Amino acid sequence: MGKTYQIGVIPGDGTGPEVVAEGIKVLNAVGEKSGIQFDYHTYNFGGDHYLKTGETLPASAIDELSSQDANFLGAIGHPDVKPGILEKGILLKMRFALDLYINLRPVKLYAGVDTPLKDKGPADIDFYVVRENTEGLYTGAGGFFKKGTPDEVAVQESINTRKGVERCLRYAFELCRRAGRRKKLTLCGKTNVLTYAFDLWERTFHEVGQAYSDVERDYAHVDAICMWMVKNPEWFDVIVTDNIFGDIITDLGAMIQGGMGIAAGGNINPEGTSMFEPIGGSAPKYTGKNVINPIAAIMAGQMMLKHLGEAQAADWVEQAVMKTIREDMKTMGAERMGMGTREVGDQVVAHLLAI
Ligand code: IPM
Ligand code: MN
Repeated sequence: MGKTYQIGVIPGDGTGPEVVAEGIKVLNAVGEKSGIQFDYHTYNFGGDHYLKTGETLPASAIDELSSQDANFLGAIGHPDVKPGILEKGILLKMRFALDLYINLRPVKLYAGVDTPLKDKGPADIDFYVVRENTEGLYTGAGGFFKKGTPDEVAVQESINTRKGVERCLRYAFELCRRAGRRKKLTLCGKTNVLTYAFDLWERTFHEVGQAYSDVERDYAHVDAICMWMVKNPEWFDVIVTDNIFGDIITDLGAMIQGGMGIAAGGNINPEGTSMFEPIGGSAPKYTGKNVINPIAAIMAGQMMLKHLGEAQAADWVEQAVMKTIREDMKTMGAERMGMGTREVGDQVVAHLLAI
């Protein structure tokens, strides 16, 4: 008998529960194949729970989520809840409370997936973005002065600590050494304007980099990165950046890899309990229609397996997903896949069992 993992599950809002169900279907199938087991602990936090109780994510839930081997999240976002409440109260709270200081987002174009980039294929679009996930503009530092008056002032500060920047960079160097195709780490910043924050990032980048002589150090401004991700995505191997730039460039990354239906991410605490999620939102208009693409959620499960050290199982899931995309699915877009949400999950399982 293999290991049993304790997995916290927050299916969340909208189409979250539907895609999480397919992720779990695939995890169970690969578990059976590789002799590993999963005990799921489901938490119904999200928009409906908030509207009923006024509660987002209580302290007791944080304790429980911290005690799992990993957590799996569907999507957060409800049309009847004011923007910001669930994002801050659930998703960002989890990132901060569990100190999930890395947001790892692979940008990989699989064969058979359409990219909007002309003349680019799977060999060109295959890199990682390592996004700092607990600092920068996301800490909520700042405030209003004379709010609501003509003299109103709003300040939103970017917090960058040596410790936070250093641990993020170290993770990126390690990842690049271990998994980089070309052992090239690009720091994405704005050293020409944000001369405090990115001065710290740049100095720390070169200091930490001394211990990684096998990794090439490269720097580009965030605006140039946006240009090159479209024009020459093959230049990138691993990109490391702060929280807000990472947020923005990974949406661009998701688009060049085929859209939100396929993009997955890991919110990682290398010393604690990590959380895996499809990058896309709760897509309320598709809820309950069996039309949303579950590949991103299945790949979030795949990243979770890899993180738990189940490399073989992770590899099998990736192979089965690649085969499903190549042989069975029409496109990555909801409603246009040529098959339903559940059928995509079934097909991944069928390919998995045939390996
Ligand atoms: C993401 C999302 C979140 C973020 C939102 C929902 C708070 O866009 O995971 O990228 O900005 O980090
Ligand atoms: Mn985002």
